[in-house]
Amino acid sequence: MAVSSEADRLRRQGADVIDFGAGEPDFPTPDNIKRAAVLAIEQNFTKYTNTGGTEDLKQAITWRHKTDYGTDYSTKECIVTVGGKHAIFELMQALIDSGDEVIVPVPYWVTYKDVVNYAGGACVFVDTDEGKGFDLRASMIERHLSPRTKMIIINSPSNPSGAVFARGELEQIVAMARDRGIWVMTDECYHRFLYEGEPYSLAALPGAKDTVIVAGSLSKTYAMTGWRIGFALAPAAVIGGIMKLQSHMTSNPTSIAQKAAIEALRGPQDSVTAMLAEYKKRRDYVIERLRRIEGVTVNMPQGAFYAYPNVSAAFRGGISNSLEFAGKLLSEALVAVVPGEAFGTADHVRISYATSLRELERGLDRIDKFISARMSCGRGA
Ligand SMILES: Cc1ncc(COP(=O)(O)O)c(C=O)c1O
Repeated sequence: MAVSSEADRLRRQGADVIDFGAGEPDFPTPDNIKRAAVLAIEQNFTKYTNTGGTEDLKQAITWRHKTDYGTDYSTKECIVTVGGKHAIFELMQALIDSGDEVIVPVPYWVTYKDVVNYAGGACVFVDTDEGKGFDLRASMIERHLSPRTKMIIINSPSNPSGAVFARGELEQIVAMARDRGIWVMTDECYHRFLYEGEPYSLAALPGAKDTVIVAGSLSKTYAMTGWRIGFALAPAAVIGGIMKLQSHMTSNPTSIAQKAAIEALRGPQDSVTAMLAEYKKRRDYVIERLRRIEGVTVNMPQGAFYAYPNVSAAFRGGISNSLEFAGKLLSEALVAVVPGEAFGTADHVRISYATSLRELERGLDRIDKFISARMSCGRGA
């Protein structure tokens, strides 16, 4: 937040700031989705809907999930929320009580920590192996289980690392959780942005439906961040609990956005494929450039649209962590990145490559110059 507001301040002063901070697609929402919203307005679909979303949208969500992953949810096991973040917040409020522990692999998306704490729970952080692409193994999780463990959070592809966890390990984690009566929350925000292999859902594993709960979002998949449509898939009793919360909190998600979401889910999916192909090109460019910078190491992201380089070799001359690195990169080189502290590691910064190749090229030139200057000044010292 500090970096974003400083970037904003500089921009308002007329500075040419390059922003690799924002985690949102630079693509516009596809036309067919926009047209569905316009039609909704023209047809006066502008009133309250059912709290948990229209039956039509819930059917579209469960149908899409079945078509993509082979799951079998009824609309009673589905709720439409005001973005994926809202689904995660409500799931935590419904399932986590004071004193409960929630297992969170590191690096993690910043929101998990705060929503778990807000519900009265405590996060138990599990380090992953940077040398192996921030890989997560079931044994790492097992070591951190306690009688208080209530939930394991899985976010694969991961924000911020782009890591995709091995399917066999995830299956072991689900089996372990099922044996011990622990929830697994799978955050499927980036599920469709997978560079190799086919997307899959942990909810499709045999017998997983009582253990696995899905937090989903249309924000990134369909370049719909501002429309605020997400969802949860979970046992009907959990959905019922969330529904009570939501009815007093937000009522329904916006009626117009719900119509647009139906078109997104049921309409042609070629825009998703096109965006993924573009992200792949950008990923390859960003990683190749970063790897050429002396002192920088970076894993190849397997999904999502973030690079998470280790820049600790450049922590010198007044920089001792990634927060200070990001601050100086912004003030001296006018490039905004997110410091790794936000995601639980101090040696990294997150670069979002959901921006044009031209901007990536300009920004990486600046990052290269900034780091190279530090590396050579360190050598002289
Ligand atoms: C890992 C992860 N999960 C969930 C979300 C929620 O997205 P939204 O609330 O826009 O649907 C985000 C957004 O950045 C995310 O990065």
